[in-house]
Amino acid sequence: MKQKIFILKNLQETKNWAREFAKTLHAPVTVALHGDLGMGKSEIAREIIKTLRGENTVVPSPTFTLVQNYDGISHFDLYRIGDVSELEEIGLQYAVDNDITLIEWPDVAKDMLPKNTIHIFITEEGDGRKLVIQ
Ligand SMILES: Nc1ncnc2c1ncn2[C@@H]1O[C@H](COP(=O)(O)OP(=O)(O)OP(=O)(O)O)[C@@H](O)[C@H]1O
Ligand SMILES: [Mg+2]
Repeated sequence: MKQKIFILKNLQETKNWAREFAKTLHAPVTVALHGDLGMGKSEIAREIIKTLRGENTVVPSPTFTLVQNYDGISHFDLYRIGDVSELEEIGLQYAVDNDITLIEWPDVAKDMLPKNTIHIFITEEGDGRKLVIQ
């Protein structure tokens, strides 16, 4: 995919972007959300899930549970994964083969990500965020 860059001035713009992006996703597809603590990986995942599964969907951060499932959408946070061997136990392979799979802290899983994974790199840009999609 050709690289795309978006400058999002505030949280609302980030949410609006995530809502439009969500509509382009069809399973199976993997979205790798790269970025430091607090960059907005969970905010983007939450908007995608609410757009596709309903506004009332409760989307807790999977920091402790490692994965949350929403009927064909799997939301992972791999921050606490110590070793790649743990990824099979939490169902990552099944998810990437079948689901809309959203992954925060995806580096530990890089060898399991499909070639057509959409990588989103989030950095600070003033008070907002810069998204590089590739
Ligand atoms: N333009 C913006 N886009 C996204 N989030 C923003 C923006 N500006 C400020 N924020 C704030 O940044 C925080 C992002 O938190 P979030 O939990 O989504 O980060 P995260 O990348 O998932 O962090 P972690 O690595 O801890 O999981 C929120 O508190 C949000 O209000
Ligand atoms: Mg998060």
